[in-house]
Amino acid sequence: MTQYNNPDPSLLSECLAKLTLEDKVRLLTGRDFWTTWPIEEIGLRRMVVSDGPSGVRGEVWDERSPSLNLPSASSLSSSWDTGIAARYGAVAAVEARRKGVDVVLGPTINLHRSPLGGRHFEAFSEDPLLTAHLAAAYVRGVQDNGVGATPKHYVANDFETDRFTVDVRVSDRALREVYLRAFEDAVVREGAWLVMSAYNSINGATATENELLETPLNSEWGFDGVVISDWTAVRSVESAKHSQDLVMPGPDGPWGAALVEAVRSGAVDEAAIDRKVLRLLRLAARVGALEGFEPTEPEHREDGVAFAREAAVEGSVLLANDGLLPLADPARIAVIGHNALHARTQGGGSATVLPERIVSPLEGVRAAFPDAEVSYSLGAIVQEGLAELDRDAMRNPVTGEPGARVEMLDADGAVLFTEDRLASGLVYFGGDAPIGEMTTLVFETDYTPTESGPQRIGFASVGTGRVLIDGELLTEQTAQAIGTDLGAAFLSPPAVSAPVQFRSGRSVRLRVEFSPQRMDGGLSNALSITIGTEPADMDADDLIAEASRAAAEADVAVVVVGTNSRVESEGYDRADLNLPGRQDDLVRAVLAANPRTVVLVNSGSPVLLPWREQAAAIVLNYFAGQEYGAAVGDLLTGAREPGGRLPTTWPAAIDDVPVLDVTPVDGALAYDEDLHIGYRAWLRAGTTPAYPFGHGLGYTTWELTGVTTTEFTEGVAAVELTARNTGDRAGKHVVQVYASRPDSTVDRPVRWLVGFATVRAQAGQAVRVRVPVQDRDLAHWDDGWQLEPGEYTLHIGSSVLDISTTTTARL
Ligand code: BGC
Repeated sequence: MTQYNNPDPSLLSECLAKLTLEDKVRLLTGRDFWTTWPIEEIGLRRMVVSDGPSGVRGEVWDERSPSLNLPSASSLSSSWDTGIAARYGAVAAVEARRKGVDVVLGPTINLHRSPLGGRHFEAFSEDPLLTAHLAAAYVRGVQDNGVGATPKHYVANDFETDRFTVDVRVSDRALREVYLRAFEDAVVREGAWLVMSAYNSINGATATENELLETPLNSEWGFDGVVISDWTAVRSVESAKHSQDLVMPGPDGPWGAALVEAVRSGAVDEAAIDRKVLRLLRLAARVGALEGFEPTEPEHREDGVAFAREAAVEGSVLLANDGLLPLADPARIAVIGHNALHARTQGGGSATVLPERIVSPLEGVRAAFPDAEVSYSLGAIVQEGLAELDRDAMRNPVTGEPGARVEMLDADGAVLFTEDRLASGLVYFGGDAPIGEMTTLVFETDYTPTESGPQRIGFASVGTGRVLIDGELLTEQTAQAIGTDLGAAFLSPPAVSAPVQFRSGRSVRLRVEFSPQRMDGGLSNALSITIGTEPADMDADDLIAEASRAAAEADVAVVVVGTNSRVESEGYDRADLNLPGRQDDLVRAVLAANPRTVVLVNSGSPVLLPWREQAAAIVLNYFAGQEYGAAVGDLLTGAREPGGRLPTTWPAAIDDVPVLDVTPVDGALAYDEDLHIGYRAWLRAGTTPAYPFGHGLGYTTWELTGVTTTEFTEGVAAVELTARNTGDRAGKHVVQVYASRPDSTVDRPVRWLVGFATVRAQAGQAVRVRVPVQDRDLAHWDDGWQLEPGEYTLHIGSSVLDISTTTTARL
C-alpha cells in the first residue's frame, strides 16, 4: 500500500469546506470521456482514468500512442497464480503512469456464467473463489504502485444482451456467495480505491441506483473509495441520493444544474453530495492529484514485454498431448490457419489497446525453429467484416511517409482538422478532434496491394460513405447500426464494401469520404471508422486441400484455429460456440493428412473442438497478448511448459451446457440456477464436458500423497500434502481443493473450490504444499453468513473431475 492509502480526513474536509455547491456538483461528473475536473483553488488537478484491463490505452485511442497488450483475463486466470496476477496489475500500473493515467478501469470481475457472454474473454472464471483471489492480487499490484484499480461491473453484468436495460433476477444468496464474492475480496482484502457500477438492473433497481451500492459495499465492507459509473449508466438526478459517486463520461450528464437545483430545493441532501466529494478528494490524494500528496512513482521494475510473454505461457492450457509436445527438432513445419498470421491478441470493445507490434504464431514458430523449413497456408477464411489495411501498404499522399492523411470538414467543406495517421482504424473517443462540429471525414492514402486479384474494399462505421479509387467513385453506401446497443454500433460497427481488382505492387489512390450518423448522449463526440478490406471470394475446398498438402509434406503441422473480431466483443453476446468458417473441416483434413499435428486455439472463451479426440496435441492460448507468437515458440520447443489450468468448463456440445441462456424475457433474465453456475451446474446435471474446470497438462507428471488437515483455528484450516514431480523435467502443478457436504440441510453445490496452490518443482523433487481453507468458504448466506457445523469432505485433485484423494474437516 502507498503512503497515501489513508489520507488525513481533516485535510480533505478543509478542501471540501472551500467549495461552493456548484463546484462540488461539477466535480461529480467527468470533464470529458476520461478525466475529472480540476479545481485550482484547492490544488486539485484533473484525474485521468483509462481502460484496461489488459494493458492501459490512455487518453487517446491512437496507434501513434501504443500500449503494452497483455493477455486477456481468461488467460491470466488460467495461470491460477496470484503472483502472476499481482505482477500483471503492477505492469499495468507502470503503463498507466507512463501514459499519465491515475486510474485503471479494471479488473473485469463479472463471472463466466454462460460461455455465450460476449465479454467472457475479459472476465476471469466461472468460479467465485478463483476470480476473487486473482482479482485481489491484480488490484494489489495496481494500487501498490500508486494507481487506482476499478473492479467492475458491480454487479451481475455477466452477459451483454440488452445490457443497458436488462433486470437480472438473482437471489441474495447467489449474489453473496457467487456474484459479489470477488468484489468483496477486492474491497475488504485490498481496499480497492474505486468500484464501477454496471449498466443493468439487479432485482428491479438499476445498478447506479441500487441499494447494493450501500449494502454490502459501504456498510459491511467498509468501502471508502469512489463508485464510478459505467459510461452513461447514470440516468437520473435521483441516483445522486444513492451511493453512486461519480458520473462518467462528462461534461454533460443528468446531475449538473439539475442536481444543484435538487439540493437547493431540499430534494437531495447536501450531505450526500459532500460524502461523494470527500471520496473523490480521497481518491485524488491516493493517486497524488491533490496538492500535498505527490504521485507515488511505481516501484515495480520489470520489462513489460518479457512479462507479457511469460504471462502468455503461464496462461496457456495444454488440453491434450499424446507425447508430440514439446517438438523434437522438426525439419519441416507446416503452419496453417488465418489466425497463425493474423492473430487475435485481445478481444474487442472498450478493452482494446493498440500495441506497437504483435508477434504472430507464424513469426513465433519461425523464430523458435530457425533451422526448420516453415511453410504457411491460410487453410480457411476466418475474418468477417473489414480488416484494417496493412500498415506497410499505405503511404500518406501529402507527406510521402507511411500512413494516411485524415481531414475533417464542416458543412461548407472548410477543413477543421487534419492529421497524419499510421493505421486505417480510427477511433475518436476522447482527444481533440472536432467530432461534434465536423460533417465529413476524408481519409486518403496511396495503397499498394501485395497480391493481385479480386478484393473487397470499404468502410465500417454507422453513416454514409463514398469510396474512390484513383479519383473514380467505386461505391457510395450507407451502413446502418445493427441492434440497439450504441456501444456495439460504435466499437464493432457494420461494414460495407465493393469489389475491386488489384494488381500486386501497383499503387492506387484510395479516398474515403464519410459522413457519420450522429450518436446521442455520451457518444455524441465519438466516432469510430475502419477503412479496410474484406476477404475476397476464395474456394474454401481449395484452401483446405492446399493446407492438407502442406501438412502431408511436413514433419509436423501447427494449425491455429480461433474466433474473429465479430465473435468476441462488447455490446452483444455470441450466438453459438462454433469456430467460424470452415475451420473444423480444415482441422479434420489436416489431421487426416498428418497425425503429427498440434492445434493451437486462439479464442478468449470456450469453442467447440469436435475433432479433439483425433488431435495429437491441443494447446489453448486464448487471446495471448502482443507476445503471443513468442510464447507459442517457447511452448513448442519446450523452453517453457504451458502453465495453465482451465478456469472455466469447456463443453463438448452446446446442448450440454447447463447454464447457457443470455436472452432476457420481458426485460428480465432470471438466474434460476442460483448458486449452480459453471462446473457446479455440470456436476449437478451429471454431464461430462470436453474438458473440466481445473484441467490442464504440463510436460511432466505429478503425484499427490501424504494429505493432512489441521483443525480450524481463527477461521482457517490448512490442508497439507506432498506434491512430487515424477517426470524428467521441472514443471508446475496446481493443487486444487474442493469441498462437499452431502448431508447439508441447505442447497449446496455437489462440490465447490475452497482453495488452491501453485507448485513448482524440479524433476524428481517433492514439495510439501500448504493450502489454507477459510471457514467462510464453507459458509452459506442466509440473512448473514451461516456456518453449518459438522463434517465437510475435502477433495484434493488436479481438476474438478480428477480427484486423487479426500480428507475431512470439521466445523
Ligand atoms: C464498458 C466499461 C468501460 C467503459 C469505458 C463501457 O462501455 O462497459 O467496461 O470501462 O465503457 O470505456
